[in-house]
Amino acid sequence: MRIKVAASSLSADCICLADDVKRVENAGADLIHVDVMDGHFVPNITIGPLVVRSLRKVTKLPLDVHLMIENPDKYVQGFVEAGSDMITMHIETIDADNFIKISKDLKIKKVLAGVSLNPDTDLEKIKPVLSDVDFVLVMSVFPGFGGQEFIPESVEKIKQLRSIFKGDISVDGGINDKTAKQVIAAGANILAAGSYIFGAKDVKQAIERIRHGN
Ligand code: DX5
Ligand code: ZN
Repeated sequence: MRIKVAASSLSADCICLADDVKRVENAGADLIHVDVMDGHFVPNITIGPLVVRSLRKVTKLPLDVHLMIENPDKYVQGFVEAGSDMITMHIETIDADNFIKISKDLKIKKVLAGVSLNPDTDLEKIKPVLSDVDFVLVMSVFPGFGGQEFIPESVEKIKQLRSIFKGDISVDGGINDKTAKQVIAAGANILAAGSYIFGAKDVKQAIERIRHGN
């Protein structure tokens, strides 16, 4: 599987967001990972559909929208209309039946559907929705902030997931050249990274290091 690198806009400079997004696009990022936080599901607040709509105009890259919000069912449509290409909802925030209903609707609208789970959520919890998602986003930190340390137990979780799921496996949190190598070996193929990419002197090199896991 080709490894894709998703640059997380959480670590970009909000005032110069367009420039930062173009910078990572030119440096070879495959996706723009957009972190949406509501101050309820996670202890931080970021952005909403308005910013996604503006981002849509400044990059050709797919927008990988990670919803870390309660009641995502109320807001998904707004993010679809704003131009999201991929939408991830957390299994902790929605029941399986509702999740499946939304995934089917996303498919009709040609938006990829993903399910995410927190580090302390068991894989069992996502099993009922697995056949309805295009990808799973494994959180390798507790969501809310960039720049946290990778939780090593995530590697085993990815391995177990890979043994039962053939679609894309995305990993988010604490990804750098070293942790990238571990999660790729475990079976992940989309790597979301914020601080490692935006904090690098050479952004292009940072992206390549993640992709090749070295
Ligand atoms: C964390 C976010 C991540 C975050 C990753 O809650 O979902 O996408 O931006 O940042 P780093 O790569 O710095 O851990
Ligand atoms: Zn994220």
